Amino acid sequence: MKRINIFINLQIQSLFIAVCLFSCSSSLTIGETCSSNGECDAGLRCDKCDASGNTRSRCVRVQPLNPTSKVKGLPYNQYSWLTTHNSYALSGAKSATGSPLLSPTNQEDSVTNQLNNGVRGLMLDMYDFENDIWLCHSFEGKCYNYTAFQPAINVLKEIQAFLESNPSEIVTIFIEDYVTSSQGLTKVFNASGLSTFWLPLSQMPKNGTNWPTVDDMIQKNQRLVVFTSKSSKEASEGIAYQWNYVVENQYGNEGMVAGSCPSRAESSPMNTKTISLVLQNYFPTNPNASEACADNSSPLTSMMQTCYEADGKRWPNFIAVDFYQRSDGGGAPEAVDEANGHLTCGCDNIAYCKANATSGTCDVPPISPPPPAAAGSGSGSSPSTPGLSNIAYLDSRPMQLRWLFGAILATPLFFWL
Ligand SMILES: *[C@@H]1O[C@H](CO)[C@@H](O)[C@H](O)[C@H]1NC(C)=O
Ligand SMILES: *[C@@H]1O[C@H](CO)[C@@H](O)[C@H](O)[C@H]1NC(C)=O
Ligand SMILES: *[C@@H]1O[C@H](CO)[C@@H](O)[C@H](O)[C@H]1NC(C)=O
Ligand SMILES: *[C@@H]1O[C@H](CO)[C@@H](O)[C@H](O)[C@H]1NC(C)=O
Ligand SMILES: *[C@@H]1O[C@H](CO)[C@@H](O)[C@H](O)[C@H]1NC(C)=O
Repeated sequence: MKRINIFINLQIQSLFIAVCLFSCSSSLTIGETCSSNGECDAGLRCDKCDASGNTRSRCVRVQPLNPTSKVKGLPYNQYSWLTTHNSYALSGAKSATGSPLLSPTNQEDSVTNQLNNGVRGLMLDMYDFENDIWLCHSFEGKCYNYTAFQPAINVLKEIQAFLESNPSEIVTIFIEDYVTSSQGLTKVFNASGLSTFWLPLSQMPKNGTNWPTVDDMIQKNQRLVVFTSKSSKEASEGIAYQWNYVVENQYGNEGMVAGSCPSRAESSPMNTKTISLVLQNYFPTNPNASEACADNSSPLTSMMQTCYEADGKRWPNFIAVDFYQRSDGGGAPEAVDEANGHLTCGCDNIAYCKANATSGTCDVPPISPPPPAAAGSGSGSSPSTPGLSNIAYLDSRPMQLRWLFGAILATPLFFWL
Protein backbone atom coordinates (compact mmCIF):
# COMPACT_ATOMS: atom_id res chain seq x y z
CA MET A 1 0.00 0.00 0.00
CA LYS A 2 2.80 2.38 0.93
CA ARG A 3 4.60 1.67 -2.29
CA ILE A 4 1.45 2.42 -4.28
CA ASN A 5 1.04 5.69 -2.42
CA ILE A 6 4.59 6.72 -3.24
CA PHE A 7 3.97 5.79 -6.83
CA ILE A 8 0.82 7.88 -6.88
CA ASN A 9 2.61 10.78 -5.26
CA LEU A 10 5.25 10.64 -7.96
CA GLN A 11 2.52 10.54 -10.57
CA ILE A 12 0.86 13.56 -9.01
CA GLN A 13 4.14 15.41 -8.91
CA SER A 14 4.97 14.73 -12.50
CA LEU A 15 1.46 15.53 -13.64
CA PHE A 16 1.61 18.71 -11.58
CA ILE A 17 4.89 19.66 -13.20
CA ALA A 18 3.45 18.88 -16.61
CA VAL A 19 0.39 21.01 -15.91
CA CYS A 20 2.62 23.71 -14.46
CA LEU A 21 4.66 23.90 -17.63
CA PHE A 22 1.85 25.75 -19.28
CA SER A 23 -0.42 27.02 -16.56
CA CYS A 24 1.58 27.86 -13.43
CA SER A 25 3.09 30.98 -14.90
CA SER A 26 -0.04 32.79 -13.73
CA SER A 27 -1.26 32.05 -10.22
CA LEU A 28 -4.57 30.64 -9.10
CA THR A 29 -7.85 32.53 -8.87
CA ILE A 30 -10.76 32.15 -6.46
CA GLY A 31 -12.11 28.62 -6.14
CA GLU A 32 -9.13 26.89 -7.74
CA THR A 33 -7.44 23.99 -6.01
CA CYS A 34 -4.28 25.01 -4.18
CA SER A 35 -1.82 23.66 -1.68
CA SER A 36 -0.28 26.85 -0.29
CA ASN A 37 -1.14 30.53 0.06
CA GLY A 38 1.67 31.51 -2.28
CA GLU A 39 0.00 29.77 -5.22
CA CYS A 40 -3.10 31.94 -5.01
CA ASP A 41 -3.45 35.38 -6.59
CA ALA A 42 -2.98 38.49 -4.49
CA GLY A 43 -5.89 39.02 -2.12
CA LEU A 44 -6.53 35.28 -1.76
CA ARG A 45 -5.29 32.53 0.49
CA CYS A 46 -5.43 28.77 0.32
CA ASP A 47 -8.03 27.33 2.67
CA LYS A 48 -10.77 24.76 2.95
CA CYS A 49 -14.00 24.83 4.87
CA ASP A 50 -14.85 21.53 6.51
CA ALA A 51 -17.79 23.19 8.27
CA SER A 52 -19.56 23.60 4.90
CA GLY A 53 -18.35 20.26 3.53
CA ASN A 54 -15.75 21.95 1.36
CA THR A 55 -12.81 19.66 1.95
CA ARG A 56 -10.89 20.63 -1.17
CA SER A 57 -8.29 23.34 -0.50
CA ARG A 58 -9.12 26.27 -2.70
CA CYS A 59 -8.12 29.90 -3.08
CA VAL A 60 -10.47 32.04 -0.99
CA ARG A 61 -10.74 35.79 -0.73
CA VAL A 62 -9.29 37.77 2.15
CA GLN A 63 -9.61 41.25 0.61
CA PRO A 64 -12.65 43.20 -0.55
CA LEU A 65 -12.40 45.48 -3.57
CA ASN A 66 -11.61 49.04 -2.58
CA PRO A 67 -15.04 50.59 -1.88
CA THR A 68 -14.08 53.81 -3.67
CA SER A 69 -12.46 52.11 -6.65
CA LYS A 70 -15.43 52.44 -9.01
CA VAL A 71 -17.59 55.33 -7.90
CA LYS A 72 -15.53 57.96 -6.18
CA GLY A 73 -16.28 60.94 -4.03
CA LEU A 74 -19.57 59.84 -2.44
CA PRO A 75 -20.43 60.58 1.19
CA TYR A 76 -18.74 58.31 3.76
CA ASN A 77 -22.15 56.73 4.54
CA GLN A 78 -22.55 55.55 0.95
CA TYR A 79 -19.81 52.96 1.18
CA SER A 80 -19.49 49.69 3.04
CA TRP A 81 -16.39 48.95 5.09
CA LEU A 82 -15.10 45.52 6.16
CA THR A 83 -14.98 45.46 9.95
CA THR A 84 -13.28 43.05 12.33
CA HIS A 85 -14.90 42.18 15.65
CA ASN A 86 -12.35 42.36 18.50
CA SER A 87 -9.66 43.21 15.96
CA TYR A 88 -6.93 42.97 18.61
CA ALA A 89 -7.88 39.56 20.05
CA LEU A 90 -5.48 37.49 17.99
CA SER A 91 -5.20 33.73 18.16
CA GLY A 92 -1.83 32.78 19.60
CA ALA A 93 -1.29 36.21 21.18
CA LYS A 94 0.47 36.40 24.54
CA SER A 95 -0.58 38.91 27.16
CA ALA A 96 1.90 41.77 27.37
CA THR A 97 1.68 41.32 31.16
CA GLY A 98 3.49 38.02 30.74
CA SER A 99 0.52 36.18 32.21
CA PRO A 100 -1.18 33.37 30.28
CA LEU A 101 -4.12 34.68 28.26
CA LEU A 102 -7.45 33.06 28.99
CA SER A 103 -9.61 35.24 26.74
CA PRO A 104 -11.20 33.85 23.61
CA THR A 105 -9.75 35.19 20.36
CA ASN A 106 -11.54 36.50 17.28
CA GLN A 107 -8.93 37.19 14.58
CA GLU A 108 -5.70 35.69 13.33
CA ASP A 109 -3.56 38.47 11.90
CA SER A 110 -2.23 41.79 13.17
CA VAL A 111 -4.19 45.01 12.82
CA THR A 112 -1.54 46.18 10.34
CA ASN A 113 -2.16 43.10 8.24
CA GLN A 114 -5.92 43.55 8.54
CA LEU A 115 -5.59 47.13 7.28
CA ASN A 116 -3.40 45.98 4.42
CA ASN A 117 -6.10 43.47 3.50
CA GLY A 118 -8.69 46.23 3.27
CA VAL A 119 -10.25 46.04 6.73
CA ARG A 120 -11.45 49.58 7.46
CA GLY A 121 -13.51 49.16 10.63
CA LEU A 122 -11.87 48.04 13.89
CA MET A 123 -13.67 47.08 17.07
CA LEU A 124 -11.45 47.66 20.10
CA ASP A 125 -12.28 47.06 23.78
CA MET A 126 -10.48 49.60 25.97
CA TYR A 127 -9.95 49.50 29.73
CA ASP A 128 -8.06 51.40 32.39
CA PHE A 129 -5.25 49.04 33.38
CA GLU A 130 -1.74 49.37 34.77
CA ASN A 131 -1.98 53.20 34.76
CA ASP A 132 -2.60 53.09 31.05
CA ILE A 133 -5.30 52.15 28.53
CA TRP A 134 -5.23 48.51 27.50
CA LEU A 135 -6.96 46.31 24.95
CA CYS A 136 -8.64 43.70 27.02
CA HIS A 137 -11.33 41.09 26.54
CA SER A 138 -12.76 40.94 29.99
CA PHE A 139 -15.88 40.98 32.15
CA GLU A 140 -17.69 43.34 34.52
CA GLY A 141 -15.75 46.29 33.16
CA LYS A 142 -12.47 45.21 34.75
CA CYS A 143 -9.30 44.08 33.06
CA TYR A 144 -7.08 41.35 34.55
CA ASN A 145 -3.64 40.12 33.62
CA TYR A 146 -5.11 36.98 32.09
CA THR A 147 -7.62 38.93 29.96
CA ALA A 148 -5.27 41.79 28.96
CA PHE A 149 -3.82 41.71 25.45
CA GLN A 150 -1.61 44.79 25.23
CA PRO A 151 -1.49 48.56 25.77
CA ALA A 152 -3.89 50.26 23.31
CA ILE A 153 -1.20 52.64 22.15
CA ASN A 154 0.61 49.83 20.34
CA VAL A 155 -2.34 49.15 18.08
CA LEU A 156 -3.25 52.83 17.74
CA LYS A 157 0.30 53.41 16.49
CA GLU A 158 -0.20 50.69 13.88
CA ILE A 159 -3.31 52.54 12.68
CA GLN A 160 -1.39 55.83 12.72
CA ALA A 161 1.36 54.33 10.56
CA PHE A 162 -1.21 52.99 8.11
CA LEU A 163 -3.02 56.34 7.76
CA GLU A 164 0.31 58.11 7.42
CA SER A 165 1.48 55.93 4.56
CA ASN A 166 -1.92 55.63 2.84
CA PRO A 167 -3.10 59.22 2.44
CA SER A 168 -6.40 58.39 0.78
CA GLU A 169 -7.61 55.70 3.19
CA ILE A 170 -10.26 56.17 5.87
CA VAL A 171 -10.42 54.07 9.05
CA THR A 172 -13.25 53.77 11.59
CA ILE A 173 -12.74 52.65 15.19
CA PHE A 174 -15.56 51.39 17.40
CA ILE A 175 -14.48 51.53 21.04
CA GLU A 176 -16.18 49.29 23.55
CA ASP A 177 -15.35 51.78 26.22
CA TYR A 178 -14.65 50.83 29.84
CA VAL A 179 -12.28 53.73 30.40
CA THR A 180 -13.23 55.94 33.35
CA SER A 181 -9.96 57.81 33.89
CA SER A 182 -10.25 61.51 33.13
CA GLN A 183 -9.42 62.25 29.46
CA GLY A 184 -8.09 58.70 29.26
CA LEU A 185 -9.01 58.12 25.62
CA THR A 186 -7.94 61.58 24.51
CA LYS A 187 -4.54 61.07 26.10
CA VAL A 188 -3.88 57.76 24.43
CA PHE A 189 -5.09 58.98 21.02
CA ASN A 190 -2.93 62.08 21.43
CA ALA A 191 0.07 59.99 22.37
CA SER A 192 -0.40 57.69 19.37
CA GLY A 193 -0.38 60.57 16.90
CA LEU A 194 -3.87 59.68 15.73
CA SER A 195 -5.54 62.90 16.89
CA THR A 196 -4.21 64.61 13.74
CA PHE A 197 -6.56 62.46 11.63
CA TRP A 198 -9.64 62.88 13.82
CA LEU A 199 -12.95 63.73 12.14
CA PRO A 200 -14.54 66.26 14.51
CA LEU A 201 -18.03 65.80 15.95
CA SER A 202 -19.19 68.92 14.13
CA GLN A 203 -18.81 67.02 10.83
CA MET A 204 -21.06 64.14 11.88
CA PRO A 205 -24.75 64.51 11.04
CA LYS A 206 -27.25 63.58 13.75
CA ASN A 207 -30.33 63.92 11.59
CA GLY A 208 -29.98 61.25 8.95
CA THR A 209 -28.35 63.47 6.38
CA ASN A 210 -25.19 62.60 4.49
CA TRP A 211 -21.78 62.46 6.09
CA PRO A 212 -18.92 64.42 4.49
CA THR A 213 -17.74 62.95 1.21
CA VAL A 214 -14.69 60.74 1.26
CA ASP A 215 -12.95 63.33 -0.92
CA ASP A 216 -13.62 65.96 1.69
CA MET A 217 -12.33 63.77 4.48
CA ILE A 218 -9.18 62.98 2.50
CA GLN A 219 -8.56 66.57 1.50
CA LYS A 220 -8.93 67.81 5.10
CA ASN A 221 -6.99 64.81 6.39
CA GLN A 222 -9.93 63.91 8.66
CA ARG A 223 -9.61 60.25 7.89
CA LEU A 224 -10.24 58.70 11.28
CA VAL A 225 -13.78 58.21 12.55
CA VAL A 226 -14.00 57.17 16.21
CA PHE A 227 -17.08 56.00 18.07
CA THR A 228 -17.38 55.24 21.77
CA SER A 229 -19.98 53.12 23.55
CA LYS A 230 -20.08 55.63 26.45
CA SER A 231 -22.51 58.49 25.89
CA SER A 232 -20.81 60.82 28.38
CA LYS A 233 -17.63 60.97 26.29
CA GLU A 234 -19.34 63.07 23.66
CA ALA A 235 -19.62 65.99 26.09
CA SER A 236 -16.43 65.33 28.06
CA GLU A 237 -13.99 64.49 25.25
CA GLY A 238 -15.77 65.19 21.96
CA ILE A 239 -15.85 61.50 21.06
CA ALA A 240 -18.93 60.47 19.09
CA TYR A 241 -21.39 58.28 21.00
CA GLN A 242 -21.86 55.38 18.63
CA TRP A 243 -25.63 55.04 18.76
CA ASN A 244 -26.24 58.69 17.97
CA TYR A 245 -24.84 57.94 14.51
CA VAL A 246 -25.10 54.20 13.92
CA VAL A 247 -27.92 51.67 14.05
CA GLU A 248 -26.77 48.18 14.79
CA ASN A 249 -28.29 44.71 14.89
CA GLN A 250 -27.95 42.29 17.79
CA TYR A 251 -24.53 40.66 18.03
CA GLY A 252 -23.78 37.08 19.09
CA ASN A 253 -25.97 34.01 18.64
CA GLU A 254 -29.20 36.03 18.84
CA GLY A 255 -28.04 38.00 15.81
CA MET A 256 -27.46 34.84 13.77
CA VAL A 257 -31.00 33.49 13.70
CA ALA A 258 -31.84 33.24 10.00
CA GLY A 259 -34.68 35.50 8.88
CA SER A 260 -34.57 38.02 11.71
CA CYS A 261 -32.48 41.12 12.30
CA PRO A 262 -33.33 42.59 15.71
CA SER A 263 -31.59 45.75 16.83
CA ARG A 264 -29.03 45.74 19.59
CA ALA A 265 -30.39 47.03 22.92
CA GLU A 266 -28.30 50.22 22.86
CA SER A 267 -29.24 51.03 19.27
CA SER A 268 -32.30 52.82 17.92
CA PRO A 269 -34.49 50.52 15.81
CA MET A 270 -32.68 49.41 12.66
CA ASN A 271 -35.02 51.39 10.40
CA THR A 272 -34.40 54.74 12.12
CA LYS A 273 -33.75 56.97 9.15
CA THR A 274 -32.52 59.90 11.22
CA ILE A 275 -29.40 57.82 11.78
CA SER A 276 -27.30 57.53 8.63
CA LEU A 277 -24.97 54.63 9.34
CA VAL A 278 -25.86 50.92 9.53
CA LEU A 279 -23.68 48.30 11.18
CA GLN A 280 -24.27 44.60 10.65
CA ASN A 281 -22.80 42.23 13.21
CA TYR A 282 -22.51 38.60 12.24
CA PHE A 283 -20.56 36.46 14.67
CA PRO A 284 -21.50 33.98 17.39
CA THR A 285 -21.42 34.61 21.14
CA ASN A 286 -18.41 32.30 21.48
CA PRO A 287 -15.94 32.86 18.67
CA ASN A 288 -15.39 29.67 16.72
CA ALA A 289 -12.49 29.50 14.26
CA SER A 290 -13.61 26.30 12.59
CA GLU A 291 -17.24 27.40 12.09
CA ALA A 292 -16.33 30.90 10.93
CA CYS A 293 -15.70 29.88 7.32
CA ALA A 294 -19.29 28.66 7.06
CA ASP A 295 -20.78 31.62 8.97
CA ASN A 296 -18.86 34.12 6.81
CA SER A 297 -20.20 32.63 3.59
CA SER A 298 -23.82 32.37 2.36
CA PRO A 299 -25.41 32.78 5.85
CA LEU A 300 -23.70 36.18 6.07
CA THR A 301 -25.03 37.38 2.73
CA SER A 302 -28.51 36.02 3.52
CA MET A 303 -28.47 37.94 6.79
CA MET A 304 -27.42 41.03 4.86
CA GLN A 305 -30.65 40.68 2.84
CA THR A 306 -32.71 40.16 6.00
CA CYS A 307 -31.13 43.19 7.65
CA TYR A 308 -31.62 45.22 4.48
CA GLU A 309 -35.37 44.80 4.95
CA ALA A 310 -35.17 45.49 8.70
CA ASP A 311 -33.02 48.59 8.10
CA GLY A 312 -35.63 50.30 5.94
CA LYS A 313 -33.97 49.03 2.75
CA ARG A 314 -30.44 50.09 3.59
CA TRP A 315 -27.27 48.14 2.92
CA PRO A 316 -24.75 47.92 5.75
CA ASN A 317 -21.94 50.47 6.01
CA PHE A 318 -20.02 48.13 8.29
CA ILE A 319 -19.98 44.34 8.16
CA ALA A 320 -18.41 43.00 11.35
CA VAL A 321 -17.21 39.41 11.59
CA ASP A 322 -14.84 37.11 13.46
CA PHE A 323 -11.94 35.47 11.60
CA TYR A 324 -12.56 37.70 8.58
CA GLN A 325 -10.16 35.72 6.40
CA ARG A 326 -12.13 32.50 6.73
CA SER A 327 -14.79 31.51 4.21
CA ASP A 328 -15.61 28.88 1.62
CA GLY A 329 -14.85 31.26 -1.23
CA GLY A 330 -15.91 34.90 -1.20
CA GLY A 331 -16.62 35.35 2.50
CA ALA A 332 -16.92 38.70 4.24
CA PRO A 333 -14.96 40.46 1.43
CA GLU A 334 -17.65 39.27 -0.99
CA ALA A 335 -20.43 40.53 1.29
CA VAL A 336 -18.72 43.93 1.45
CA ASP A 337 -18.38 43.98 -2.36
CA GLU A 338 -22.09 43.23 -2.70
CA ALA A 339 -23.00 46.01 -0.28
CA ASN A 340 -20.72 48.41 -2.15
CA GLY A 341 -22.31 47.43 -5.46
CA HIS A 342 -25.74 48.33 -4.12
CA LEU A 343 -24.55 51.44 -2.30
CA THR A 344 -22.36 53.00 -4.96
CA CYS A 345 -23.78 52.06 -8.36
CA GLY A 346 -27.00 50.07 -7.89
CA CYS A 347 -25.42 46.78 -9.05
CA ASP A 348 -25.37 43.50 -7.14
CA ASN A 349 -21.61 43.70 -6.70
CA ILE A 350 -19.06 46.49 -6.91
CA ALA A 351 -17.22 44.29 -9.40
CA TYR A 352 -20.10 44.94 -11.83
CA CYS A 353 -20.06 48.72 -11.45
CA LYS A 354 -18.82 50.78 -14.36
CA ALA A 355 -16.38 53.54 -13.50
CA ASN A 356 -18.25 56.60 -12.20
CA ALA A 357 -21.64 55.08 -13.04
CA THR A 358 -24.37 55.53 -10.45
CA SER A 359 -27.26 54.61 -12.67
CA GLY A 360 -27.45 50.84 -12.31
CA THR A 361 -25.74 50.06 -15.60
CA CYS A 362 -23.88 46.91 -14.66
CA ASP A 363 -21.22 44.76 -16.31
CA VAL A 364 -22.17 41.30 -15.12
CA PRO A 365 -19.59 38.75 -16.26
CA PRO A 366 -20.76 35.43 -17.71
CA ILE A 367 -21.20 32.70 -15.12
CA SER A 368 -18.79 29.76 -15.15
CA PRO A 369 -19.59 26.39 -13.57
CA PRO A 370 -18.29 26.03 -10.01
CA PRO A 371 -15.47 23.67 -9.11
CA PRO A 372 -16.34 20.70 -6.90
CA ALA A 373 -16.52 21.27 -3.17
CA ALA A 374 -15.01 18.08 -1.86
CA ALA A 375 -11.41 16.97 -2.23
CA GLY A 376 -10.89 14.45 -5.02
CA SER A 377 -14.52 14.45 -6.15
CA GLY A 378 -13.58 15.24 -9.72
CA SER A 379 -16.52 16.65 -11.61
CA GLY A 380 -19.07 14.99 -9.35
CA SER A 381 -21.85 16.69 -7.47
CA SER A 382 -20.87 19.10 -4.76
CA PRO A 383 -22.64 19.39 -1.42
CA SER A 384 -22.09 23.11 -1.14
CA THR A 385 -21.03 25.14 -4.12
CA PRO A 386 -20.04 28.79 -3.89
CA GLY A 387 -22.90 31.26 -4.16
CA LEU A 388 -23.92 32.51 -7.55
CA SER A 389 -22.30 35.86 -6.97
CA ASN A 390 -19.04 34.21 -5.93
CA ILE A 391 -18.99 32.40 -9.20
CA ALA A 392 -20.00 35.40 -11.19
CA TYR A 393 -17.16 37.29 -9.57
CA LEU A 394 -14.64 35.02 -11.24
CA ASP A 395 -12.81 36.62 -14.06
CA SER A 396 -12.66 35.04 -17.45
CA ARG A 397 -9.13 33.66 -17.29
CA PRO A 398 -8.72 30.03 -18.34
CA MET A 399 -10.41 28.66 -15.26
CA GLN A 400 -12.40 25.92 -16.88
CA LEU A 401 -9.28 24.60 -18.48
CA ARG A 402 -7.68 24.27 -15.06
CA TRP A 403 -10.73 22.61 -13.56
CA LEU A 404 -10.46 20.19 -16.41
CA PHE A 405 -6.86 19.50 -15.41
CA GLY A 406 -8.05 19.13 -11.84
CA ALA A 407 -10.63 16.61 -12.96
CA ILE A 408 -8.11 14.75 -15.11
CA LEU A 409 -5.74 14.65 -12.15
CA ALA A 410 -8.38 13.55 -9.71
CA THR A 411 -10.25 10.98 -11.76
CA PRO A 412 -7.54 8.31 -12.14
CA LEU A 413 -6.55 8.85 -8.51
CA PHE A 414 -10.06 8.00 -7.54
CA PHE A 415 -9.74 4.65 -9.23
CA TRP A 416 -6.27 3.90 -7.95
CA LEU A 417 -7.05 4.63 -4.32
C1 LIG B 1 0.16 41.39 36.37
O1 LIG B 1 1.11 41.81 35.39
C2 LIG B 1 1.98 42.81 35.88
C3 LIG B 1 2.90 43.22 34.74
O2 LIG B 1 2.14 43.90 33.78
C4 LIG B 1 2.79 42.29 37.06
O3 LIG B 1 3.58 43.33 37.57
C5 LIG B 1 1.84 41.78 38.13
O4 LIG B 1 2.58 41.17 39.17
C6 LIG B 1 0.87 40.79 37.57
N1 LIG B 1 -0.11 40.43 38.56
C7 LIG B 1 -0.46 39.18 38.80
C8 LIG B 1 -1.52 38.99 39.86
O5 LIG B 1 0.00 38.25 38.17
C1 LIG C 1 -4.53 66.39 23.14
O1 LIG C 1 -3.94 67.13 22.07
C2 LIG C 1 -4.56 68.36 21.82
C3 LIG C 1 -3.97 68.95 20.58
O2 LIG C 1 -2.58 68.86 20.61
C4 LIG C 1 -4.40 69.26 23.04
O3 LIG C 1 -5.04 70.50 22.81
C5 LIG C 1 -5.04 68.58 24.23
O4 LIG C 1 -4.81 69.33 25.41
C6 LIG C 1 -4.48 67.20 24.43
N1 LIG C 1 -5.30 66.55 25.46
C7 LIG C 1 -4.80 65.76 26.41
C8 LIG C 1 -5.75 65.26 27.43
O5 LIG C 1 -3.63 65.43 26.44
C1 LIG D 1 -28.33 67.96 9.80
O1 LIG D 1 -27.12 67.99 10.54
C2 LIG D 1 -26.05 68.66 9.91
C3 LIG D 1 -24.79 68.47 10.73
O2 LIG D 1 -25.08 68.28 12.07
C4 LIG D 1 -26.43 70.11 9.68
O3 LIG D 1 -25.39 70.78 9.02
C5 LIG D 1 -27.70 70.19 8.84
O4 LIG D 1 -28.12 71.51 8.71
C6 LIG D 1 -28.83 69.36 9.46
N1 LIG D 1 -29.93 69.27 8.50
C7 LIG D 1 -31.20 69.37 8.89
C8 LIG D 1 -32.19 69.19 7.80
O5 LIG D 1 -31.54 69.56 10.04
C1 LIG E 1 -16.98 25.23 17.29
O1 LIG E 1 -18.14 24.64 16.75
C2 LIG E 1 -18.06 23.23 16.64
C3 LIG E 1 -19.29 22.75 15.91
O2 LIG E 1 -20.45 23.35 16.42
C4 LIG E 1 -17.93 22.63 18.02
O3 LIG E 1 -17.80 21.24 17.91
C5 LIG E 1 -16.69 23.21 18.70
O4 LIG E 1 -16.60 22.76 20.01
C6 LIG E 1 -16.75 24.73 18.69
N1 LIG E 1 -15.50 25.27 19.20
C7 LIG E 1 -15.46 26.25 20.09
C8 LIG E 1 -14.09 26.74 20.44
O5 LIG E 1 -16.47 26.72 20.60
C1 LIG F 1 -14.21 58.98 -13.05
O1 LIG F 1 -14.12 60.19 -12.32
C2 LIG F 1 -12.80 60.56 -11.96
C3 LIG F 1 -12.86 61.86 -11.17
O2 LIG F 1 -13.93 61.86 -10.28
C4 LIG F 1 -11.97 60.74 -13.22
O3 LIG F 1 -10.64 61.02 -12.87
C5 LIG F 1 -12.02 59.48 -14.06
O4 LIG F 1 -11.34 59.68 -15.28
C6 LIG F 1 -13.46 59.06 -14.35
N1 LIG F 1 -13.45 57.79 -15.06
C7 LIG F 1 -14.17 57.56 -16.14
C8 LIG F 1 -14.03 56.21 -16.76
O5 LIG F 1 -14.93 58.39 -16.61
